[in-house]
Amino acid sequence: MTSPAPSASSASAPQPVQTPGPGTAARRRPPHELLGLTSPAYGGDYNPEQWDEATFAEDLELMAEADVNMVSLGIFSWARLEPREGDYELDWLVEVIDRLHDAGIAVDLATATASPPAWMAAEHPESLPMSADGVRLGFGSRQQYCPSSAVYRERSAALAQALAERLGDHPGVVMWHIGNEYGCHTAECFCPACAQAFRSWLAHRYGDVEHLNAAWGTDFWSQRYTSLEQVGPPAAMPTFHNPAQLLDWRRFSDHQLRSLMEAEARILREHSSRPITTNFMGDFPATDYWRWAGALDIISDDSYPDPADEAAAHEVAWAGDLMRGLAGGHPWILMEQAPSAVQWRGRNSPKRPGQLLLWSLARVAHGADGILQFQWRQSRQGAETFHSGMVPHAGRASRTWEEVVATGRALKRLGPVLGEPVRAQVAVVLDWDSQWAMSSAIGPVEPGERFETARAWHRSLWEAGIATDVVPAAADPGAELTGYRLIIVPAVFIDYPELAGRLEQAAAAGAQVVVVGPTGVVDANAGAVLGGYLGSLRPLLGVRVTDHAALSGPVGRTDSRAALVNRLSRVVEAPAAETWTGLEAVSVPLRRVLDQMGSPAPDLRAGGWAEEVRVDEAPDDADTDEGREPVEVVAVFDGRGGGADLAGWPAITRRPAGGAGAAWYVAADLDAVSRAALLRLVCAHARVRPVVADLPDGVEAQRRGQVLFLLNHGDRAAEVTGVVGTDLLSGEACTGHVVLAPRSALVVLDNTRPASV
Ligand code: GLA
Ligand code: ZN
Repeated sequence: MTSPAPSASSASAPQPVQTPGPGTAARRRPPHELLGLTSPAYGGDYNPEQWDEATFAEDLELMAEADVNMVSLGIFSWARLEPREGDYELDWLVEVIDRLHDAGIAVDLATATASPPAWMAAEHPESLPMSADGVRLGFGSRQQYCPSSAVYRERSAALAQALAERLGDHPGVVMWHIGNEYGCHTAECFCPACAQAFRSWLAHRYGDVEHLNAAWGTDFWSQRYTSLEQVGPPAAMPTFHNPAQLLDWRRFSDHQLRSLMEAEARILREHSSRPITTNFMGDFPATDYWRWAGALDIISDDSYPDPADEAAAHEVAWAGDLMRGLAGGHPWILMEQAPSAVQWRGRNSPKRPGQLLLWSLARVAHGADGILQFQWRQSRQGAETFHSGMVPHAGRASRTWEEVVATGRALKRLGPVLGEPVRAQVAVVLDWDSQWAMSSAIGPVEPGERFETARAWHRSLWEAGIATDVVPAAADPGAELTGYRLIIVPAVFIDYPELAGRLEQAAAAGAQVVVVGPTGVVDANAGAVLGGYLGSLRPLLGVRVTDHAALSGPVGRTDSRAALVNRLSRVVEAPAAETWTGLEAVSVPLRRVLDQMGSPAPDLRAGGWAEEVRVDEAPDDADTDEGREPVEVVAVFDGRGGGADLAGWPAITRRPAGGAGAAWYVAADLDAVSRAALLRLVCAHARVRPVVADLPDGVEAQRRGQVLFLLNHGDRAAEVTGVVGTDLLSGEACTGHVVLAPRSALVVLDNTRPASV
């Protein structure tokens, strides 16, 4: 080697993304102020260009009947707005907006850049995206653009400008809707223009090729580059990609899409004072919405829980809590949900009776100040012909229409909820970069569903009735971790010294910090943390992870008679083939919790993931550890199932952090029962209680300021006592005992309660 390569470990310590931007946290104004709402926004995507004049007139009548006060317009109208390159036809759109405005319906106006017209594909075929194996995707569907395409960038910016100049001050336009669901179909493009843009992005990040070599570890498999010009996207390759290349590619692809949105936002702001949004897709894996949120004035979300999923209501809660986090704790807008069934699943279940209103109210309970659907009128043609609409093919004589009208009527009564905050004492940390790092790594475990661990812990909190915020790993001035009593750090794969510091502060201030593996496994370049995983969290937790033990699926276990004849292998156990492992509660309080949960008491179990954990005997830094109490082992692996070789090793640990605070480590993928048991114990330490105690099965409670939401997701009527205040939906007084019908909700304003509780 001629010149020593810069060492990857000498790179500055990884920092989680910084989110503060123009729209975040403290500087964000609530949507109802920005939009001039007196009750939650209600309506949907409106595509009048698919219909004739008579239908338009009928739409206005039906919208009035359903109490619609806002529609999203023009999302897929580019071909009508610019039928030939540079030739704009905006008059029809202005007329639609005029007529909607006259009818009292506000417009969320799209920049219409989600799907370029046929002329772009025909005249500029290089604007079409390319798949990983080099195939240009064709025209005739939607979102067929390369995010690096010069012509797409130029024409989309010009269209946004033309619309902003013409309609930026129109009184009927209350909000801008940039693009649509960025990355939904085309989250990455492998064309030559993207390869070139990737190289520029890498040059900016690393400066020169030697720093890239060091960061990517290219001495492995002879991947060393001598020029940045040799570097390309992680396209189709013979076998595994370089994980650092994949991780940077994900960051780059997110950056490319985000730069499109930001470019349009800049143009809109030059010509219009209206607030700006783009519709997110929950915890969509390809786009790091913490990075996106700062450029937006209003956070909005598209969410399609499956009515055939018994945990669909958790999906509503999870997405809502995440959107509120992205909005810096402020309300947000639901931009899309299905009025009934979608058309894109294998089985497209309709919403059950009552569910449209129930889930709409659940979204409001989690911070939404607007409920819009995809779409207003069910299409007669095209790929979404069989996706439900607020006005179904059958017309008014349909259950969907009745429920649409009922939902509009209910939302109209929720003016007192607008702008009211949700207060939570529990936070779940969510980090896209870590998810990318985990899915870029080859092993140690097959990446599961997106944010699987975070979702699982959030769900356990939700099932226990505990209000929860979702927060970024990065410092956020609007949401300091020290304000929380319980902080869950679920599979944050990248080691962040800065986050570790803030968790230490929170624990010292009295919080319970629960870290769940695999956490702190790699650095920001996907390189392994050396000396024991958990990295900079080790001082706080007092433990380190010395090995991983993924529990894989059953291998070769199906031939049950083989042991009759297989003399050599019949005495060989293969515990790693088991998908579960047993745990034993060592701590008396945890055993007590289990005893309270049933008779016989449930046992503790984990599946999918387990780790070998050692308690750190000698503190790394005697000064900082002075006065800290020793680590307590809360549970051990008991040798049952796949964890046989871990028998006796710590599975859950706890280290007191001074005062009432403590740091817990969970070295396994606990199942629902075990998570619930541990949370009961941790919540007792944290003095965290459910929003409303002792609710019957199926009933969720959430509070926004003085308004209590009781949401009965169950199929049985449920009785709740102690409910006092005014039922906002019926206007009647609640004086204690209420009965909730199956899939119904109660929204109660309690003026006797201080607003801040
Ligand atoms: C997405 C899109 C909409 C529509 C719906 C259908 O959310 O934004 O245009 O295609 O899916 O569910
Ligand atoms: Zn491209």
